Order: sequence, then structure tokens, then C-alpha cells
Amino acid sequence: MKMLLSLKSVSKSFAAVQALSDASFDLCPGEVHALVGENGAGKSTLIRLITGALRPDSGTLEIDGQLISDNTPSRSRELGVAAIYQQPALFPDLSVIENLALGLEPGRLWRRVDWRARRERAARLLHLVGADIDPEMIVSRLSMPQQQLIEIARALGSSARILILDEPTASLSDREVENLFRVIRDLRKAGLGIVYISHRFEEIFALADRVTILRDGQTVAQLGIDQTNPTGLIELMVGRELSTVFPKRRVPIGEPVLRVEHLSSREAGLHNITFEVRAGEIFGLAGLVGSGRSELARALFGLHPVDSGRILLHGRELVDLSPQRAIEAGIGLVPEDRRRHGVIADLPIDVNSSLAILPQISTAGLLHPDEERCLAASLADRLRLKAPALFAPVSSLSGGNQQKVALARWLATRPALLILDEPTQGIDVGAKAEIHRQMGELAAEGVAIIMISSEMPEVLGMSDRLAVMRHGTIAAILDRSEASPELIAAHAFGA
Ligand SMILES: Nc1ncnc2c1ncn2[C@@H]1O[C@H](COP(=O)(O)OP(=O)(O)OP(=O)(O)O)[C@@H](O)[C@H]1O
Ligand SMILES: [Mg+2]
Repeated sequence: MKMLLSLKSVSKSFAAVQALSDASFDLCPGEVHALVGENGAGKSTLIRLITGALRPDSGTLEIDGQLISDNTPSRSRELGVAAIYQQPALFPDLSVIENLALGLEPGRLWRRVDWRARRERAARLLHLVGADIDPEMIVSRLSMPQQQLIEIARALGSSARILILDEPTASLSDREVENLFRVIRDLRKAGLGIVYISHRFEEIFALADRVTILRDGQTVAQLGIDQTNPTGLIELMVGRELSTVFPKRRVPIGEPVLRVEHLSSREAGLHNITFEVRAGEIFGLAGLVGSGRSELARALFGLHPVDSGRILLHGRELVDLSPQRAIEAGIGLVPEDRRRHGVIADLPIDVNSSLAILPQISTAGLLHPDEERCLAASLADRLRLKAPALFAPVSSLSGGNQQKVALARWLATRPALLILDEPTQGIDVGAKAEIHRQMGELAAEGVAIIMISSEMPEVLGMSDRLAVMRHGTIAAILDRSEASPELIAAHAFGA
């Protein structure tokens, strides 16, 4: 059978970092080929060679049987490659129809537009991906998962034959993941080749036909999915045995740290929220994407104005909350969109990981660089941070490693209340277990933790109690002993 894609012995380095060394990968029509590896293993770099964003230092790339020596993004697109990332790349101010037309229709921009044909084509493509979306909608008004489906629709419209998905499900709910999988299976049946990158093993075993494992830029194995199992995959990824599930540590629950009373915020779309979190408690926030979980986190950190209700920390009301005041009062937040808010991409790692504890490691406004470096080094080690050096800018790290830096910043502090929004999204198995362990340690020290997670096993496994949010308010608060996936789903959908 003719291969859709074949990379042989490709290497790529960035200055001193060997991102890929002698790696190989191929793709047949009608298969889902998963690409797995720890954070920084080289997955995204391999993808960027295929899409023409980067050129290899050595090795060969063939697309559809043609040897491509000077790949560029437009060349690769012409050859039928389409890539979809975690963050949709659409034009937010244009409608769905316009987004589906851009780049697909031949001819000049100012030619006469056949609106009817455009509309019909958009409707047909949306139907193919199972998206129930009005084509006239402006894209910025759509949810992230909806935008992602539009990107896939656009890829189909451009008659892509190779579809690359780099961690596409990170912020999708279970139901949205199901729809995406259905679409992927249809495309496989239609003969497309699909490259699928994910840190979630359930997905890989549910979807993939073959899997290639990258470790430190090298391909360590390529297997049929029925030749392996999750434990085997992890061993190949990390090169050692590893326990993936970290059992929840039971710690004594203390006094209330945070009390939220009838909180409403028009800007954040929150209304009448009441709950409390105690010292040592991990309080989960479950709910659908868009139910208001991140907005609640942001409001507690002073990023949304509160219209009515009260926020009390250790019994003292926090008024006119701002992020500055929140930090002073002892509240920490690791936001969801870490690429935008969680790290300062151009600053070195050691500075980033100590930003939040400046008062602790500085006296009279002077920073002790040694302490900063020492702290960063110990955290980097525990989270298995893969970076050329601690003084490297964060922007040069892989996606997952950037997330580790954002987390390290707050794990380094001992806030009274720590809010973690999707703390392990995009993070590899080994580091994930370490983050869960760290959360347990912080809780044992009496930190109150709020954890937002879209991953059912994580929210069920880690929380002492959890709130299910729906339409900007709390639909139910469940105790660990009574919480189940069915009950959470029932409250999340309002059934
Ligand atoms: N532009 C760059 N400059 C310097 N180093 C880079 C650059 N891009 C990637 N790297 C390095 O190359 C290595 C591989 O990164 P890559 O993004 O391919 O990892 P990944 O497997 O996609 O990881 P993740 O699961 O975290 O997304 C990392 O060590 C990273 O720091
Ligand atoms: Mg990546």
C-alpha cells in the first residue's frame, strides 16, 4: 500500500537542544496513528516538520510518495496535510461561512461571491463533522469545541488526506470528545490518514490502530495497538517503571479557609454562588466547558468584579479584590490558559517559577538569585522538567513543560488557598502523578485547594468534596463518598 506519509531518520536541533534525533514515522490511508511521549519528547517538532513550519537538519520526508526536500506550509497544504491544534486558529470576527470559504475558494478576494454556493458548501461541511451550528454565526461567539469542529470541516473542505490532531481534546467535555471520535472514525473509514497526539491513554486505546513512541527525540518503538497496553506504553515513554495512579492522601480537614456567600458577577456570568473550602480540603469543580468554573476561579482572584455577595478568607471579607490583593491575602491561581496568562514566556524558567514568592525570597526588595535558582532547580527536578537550562526562556519549551513552569510557580508558595484550573491538562503521565502528589502534600500542610478538572477520574479521585456547576451557578455539592460519573453528569446537564 502506498504510504501517505513517511519520515525517515529525521533530526532537528535548536541551538544546543536536540529535539529530534534519527526519528521515523509513517502513516497509511485509513488509519489512526498515535504519537506519544513525555513532555518535550519531540512530538510537536515532528508535526512541524510535516506541516512545513520547520525543516529537518537531516533525514527525509515523503508526502504521498513524493520526496519533499523544501517543505513549506503552503506546499504541505497543497499536498493534503491539515493540522489542528489545541487552540483553534480561525478568524474570530468572521462568520462560520466566511471561515470555511477562506483559503478554500480559488480566485481573488474581490471577485463576485456566490453566496448561495458558499452557504450550501458550509452547511454540507458542518453536517459532515456532526456540528449543529448556524453557518451565519460569528466565530468568536462559538465555544472552543465548536470552533475545533469548524477547523476540521475546513480541513475536509480543502480535501485534506492527512489530518493531524495535536492534543485536540484537552478542553473538551466527555460528550464533545465522543462526537470528535465519531468524526475521526468516519474520516478513517473514508480513507484519510490521521495522526493523533494525546497524553490520555484511554483515547489512544479507543482510537488508534498503531502507536509510535518518542523518547528524547528518538523513536523507541512502533507498535500495533493490540500489541501493547497502558503499562507497556508508559514504560516505553519514560524508559522505566512508573506507578501512574497516585492514591489520594487522606489528611485531616481543618477550619474553613474560604467562604463564598451568594456571589454574583454579571461580567463573569456567575450568580448566587455559596460554598466553603476548609484547610486541607481539595474541593473539585466539575461541570461542562462554559458552565462558569474558570470564571468563578477568576472572580475569586479579583479578575472579575463582584456585583453582590461576599468572599471571606479566614473569616475576613475581601473587598475590592484585585490579583495583587488576592496574592497578598494568600490566594494563588494557576489559570487554564497558561500559554497566555500563566507564564511570562520571554522570562527565564527560574524567574518564572519564583515570581509569586518574591516576598519570601527577597528582603527589602532585593532578590537572592541563589535561592531563586535553588528553588527552581528542586521543582524542575521533581516535575521532570525538560529544559536546556533553567535560564532558558519559557517560550523555547514544549507545551507541557511550559505548563509545568506555571504550576511550579504556585507549588513553590504556601498560599492559604490555591486555585488550580485544569492542573494536569497537556501534562505527561509521570509529571501528572507528581502534581497529584504535590497537591496532597500541600493539603497535608493545611492549604485549601480548589481544583477545576474536566477529567472525570481526576476530579473523582482527588476531591474531598466537589461542586457541579451549570449555567454560572452551583447545581450541586457532592461528598466524595456519594460522587459518581453519572451523578456529576446528571447535575451538569440539569437532568
Ligand atoms: N523554538 C524552539 N527553541 C528551542 N527549543 C525548542 C524549540 N521548540 C522546541 N524546542 C525543544 O525541543 C524539544 C521538543 O519539544 P516539542 O515541542 O517537540 O515536545 P512535545 O513532545 O510536543 O512535548 P509536549 O507534550 O510538552 O507538547 C523540547 O526540549 C523543547 O524545549
Ligand atoms: Mg507538543
